[in-house]
Amino acid sequence: MRGIVLAGGNGTRLQPLSFVGSKQLAPCYDKPIIYYPLSMLMLAGISEVLIISRPDDLPQFRRLFGDGSDLGMSIAYTAQDEPRGIADAFLVGADHIRGEDNALILGDNLFHGANLPSLLRRSAAKLNGCVLFGHHVADPERFGVAEVDDEGRLVAIEEKPDRPRSNLAIPGLYFFDGGVVDVAKRLTPSARGELEITDVLRAYLAEGRADLAWLGRGVTWLDTGTHESLLEAALFVRDVQRRQGTRIGCVEEIAMHMGFITPDDCYRLGERMASSPYGRYVMDCARSYEKVPASARAAAGWT
Ligand code: G1P
Repeated sequence: MRGIVLAGGNGTRLQPLSFVGSKQLAPCYDKPIIYYPLSMLMLAGISEVLIISRPDDLPQFRRLFGDGSDLGMSIAYTAQDEPRGIADAFLVGADHIRGEDNALILGDNLFHGANLPSLLRRSAAKLNGCVLFGHHVADPERFGVAEVDDEGRLVAIEEKPDRPRSNLAIPGLYFFDGGVVDVAKRLTPSARGELEITDVLRAYLAEGRADLAWLGRGVTWLDTGTHESLLEAALFVRDVQRRQGTRIGCVEEIAMHMGFITPDDCYRLGERMASSPYGRYVMDCARSYEKVPASARAAAGWT
């Protein structure tokens, strides 16, 4: 499966922060926001990733990840001249998708939780059309919303409805088969002039090929698109990390445990940042690699 991180948009809700660069590069506590969605793709087992962003911002993303080889991955970049909606990612990224199964994650979505990596891998393995995720939230009107019947089957999808018919928000992480590019080509822009992801999901639902996977209560999903939500996410990351002594979205650690790089490679990546607690954590992870028991690895969701 191939991955796309959509890190475009003008980040108007984060101005003036977003004047100086892509919002997905803004710090969320100890790392750029994009580390969180990228780490989700990695935990799903994906090592071939396309980052889509504004032309002016691409050099910074490149500086951060290069061609991905430091992480044992292949990371490519494509510019999106103007934000034309989430589903535009399938048109901009068509050459990357190459007709294969793919995962799209929004560059400002942060997920954390028990059993999430195995849920992602299971969902990817039984993909038949598309998989969207459902997560109970207090304010569904801010999101795409899934309606389910009494048996929990997906029956309708609405984008930011005034009167949501459920509390089941659809986070910005989706799995699709290679046909998604053709679906996106057939879309007409919405009233706000965008190619809506919700319309793509609806097209699959109409064909009976949209699966809803529930993110249980053990999962936290945060978006970082406003000043308030960015601060909340940063505090969440700090609190969990401080309490547990582990780090969320540490791409070097995940690359090592997913087998993309060796512990020696991981150590060297940490060494480059040895002045920061993050860098020292990466070095510690590499040093203790052999000591992590199989049960702890399984619990962490690493294969
Ligand atoms: C987008 C999607 C929405 C989804 C949300 C998740 O909204 O349109 O369906 O629930 O991302 O973050 P946006 O945040 O771009 O307004």
